[in-house]
Amino acid sequence: MKLRAYVIFCMFSLFVIVPSSFAITIDGAISSGEYSKQTEFDKGNFKLLWEFEGEKVFMAIIAKTPGWISVGFNPSSFMSNSDLILAVVKDSQDIKVYDEWSSGMFGPHAPDIEKGGTSDVLSYAGSRSGDTVIFEFSRLLDTKDKYDKAIPTSGKFKIMWAYGPSLDMTAKHKKAGTATVEMAK
Ligand code: HEM
Repeated sequence: MKLRAYVIFCMFSLFVIVPSSFAITIDGAISSGEYSKQTEFDKGNFKLLWEFEGEKVFMAIIAKTPGWISVGFNPSSFMSNSDLILAVVKDSQDIKVYDEWSSGMFGPHAPDIEKGGTSDVLSYAGSRSGDTVIFEFSRLLDTKDKYDKAIPTSGKFKIMWAYGPSLDMTAKHKKAGTATVEMAK
């Protein structure tokens, strides 16, 4: 009887527990329900989706732009003292990702590794179809890098977003903004 209960439990685990703990696939495509949290900026031209899994956060950006895209965390004023992830997605095979820190209100922002910090993107993928770009990445909620901000799993958190006019990452954003977001919604 005990064996039968064990077998039933194993089958349940395979079909129910395992799939739900691997809901996110970092593949540059976003399926319905893949991320449980989302918000949008710039009248929907820049969507941010996210999901927490253990000590990690998974984030996705869907934006309408021919250019680079970026999401940043907890700036003080404009861009100052902010942790940001900048992605240049030409197509699914040609993606450049930078884990950066902006020291001043209008930059400069430089890769954390150039300041003695660490590059903390754990996995990423993206795709582009015309001017619609998708970018997904994961990182630890708290990387312990002094050039990263810890991401809370609940409560309000200041997010910044931006996208460029082209794939030249030194070109100033076409649009950018900040918003206070409820992280657990
Ligand atoms: C690529 C080089 C960049 C340059 C030269 C630049 C420059 C500037 C400047 C001059 C401003 C002042 C407002 C304005 O003139 O629009 C600004 C604001 C801002 N930037 Fe950047 N920036 C750059 C990249 C980024 C990146 C990667 C992000 C990441 C999210 C970002 C986020 C912001 C935000 C959120 C604001 C404030 C917008 C607002 O509150 O209206 N910037 N930037």
